Amino acid sequence: MIYLVGFMGSGKSTVAEQLSRKLGMPYIEMDEEIEKQEGLSISEMFATQGESFFREKETSFLRGISKDVIVSTGGGIILSKDNRHLLKSGTVIYLKAEWETIVKRLREDTNRPLWKGDEQEKKNRFESRLALYDEVADEIVSVDERTPCEIAVDIQKRI
Ligand code: S3P
Repeated sequence: MIYLVGFMGSGKSTVAEQLSRKLGMPYIEMDEEIEKQEGLSISEMFATQGESFFREKETSFLRGISKDVIVSTGGGIILSKDNRHLLKSGTVIYLKAEWETIVKRLREDTNRPLWKGDEQEKKNRFESRLALYDEVADEIVSVDERTPCEIAVDIQKRI
């Protein structure tokens, strides 16, 4: 398994797609799979069932992955200790972005339930997660000012 982790807007999904083509290995987008499984969008899930419901689904989905695939995870995958442990079953690539890059990329985003409201609150969330991404990472790949294709080439060289 190759797990791509990183904050919202770090480009996990687009890099997963590129990497999948280069390695000839299938990829899955965890959020999309959980949405299909539950018949609800992530926003609906947060609104009607609460964040903890989504987090439980994330953990059981992660636990159930058995095929050798590239997994584009959700930005909060590193929050639970169980998840951090489960990620040890594969190679974890941390797509590391500067705060400014995230802000630029998510400026127009209205879909993500945890990318709302107060700027300081978002920045605090970003900063509070940095050490956790570092903790799980086997490789740290910088994504600032680089295309998904360049990032995928970089990952390919390292694994
Ligand atoms: C989340 C990130 C989202 C999604 C959910 C929660 C987070 O995924 O899983 O909205 O806690 O950072 P992306 O990183 O793909 O936006």
